[in-house]
Amino acid sequence: MGKEQTFSIIKPNAVKKNKMGAIMDHFEKNGLKIAAAKLTVISKLKCEEFYAEHKARPFFGELVSFMTSGPVLLMVLSGDNAVTKNRDLMGATDPAKANPGTIRKLYGDSMGENAVHGSDSPTSAAREISLFFEKSEICNG
Ligand code: RTP
Ligand code: MG
Repeated sequence: MGKEQTFSIIKPNAVKKNKMGAIMDHFEKNGLKIAAAKLTVISKLKCEEFYAEHKARPFFGELVSFMTSGPVLLMVLSGDNAVTKNRDLMGATDPAKANPGTIRKLYGDSMGENAVHGSDSPTSAAREISLFFEKSEICNG
């Protein structure tokens, strides 16, 4: 596997708990580079576009409302096999089912408030990165 980029979000619950640094440290200690980073509050419209694949799901309203409830840290992570590596470091969607030592086990509060987002494929990563970052903002790849 060659060098790859993936998109990561530290969700509002983890930012609120002051865990940005710990989560970034987790990525850096495990071979992922923070290639771009932006602290922001996502607009409802942008969030609906970002999560378009989940539009028909019963949790969609709750998901958008949570993800726009406060600051999030948007990041591009780069490294060998970055998409899969990030998903492995994150752990299962439900923190209760996530393996010990994963980010969601350590910092997740519930299925909805599960601390981090990570792209599920290189194709998703490309779409998600382009939604939030200009090419020129990715400067530590
Ligand atoms: P993510 O996209 O955030 O990295 O998470 P994921 O791939 O592990 O999970 P996905 O199926 O894409 O779902 C996106 C986010 O929606 C929330 N969710 N809530 N209440 C529920 O049953 C439920 N299911 C999913 C989670 O916050 C999940 O991360
Ligand atoms: Mg997903």
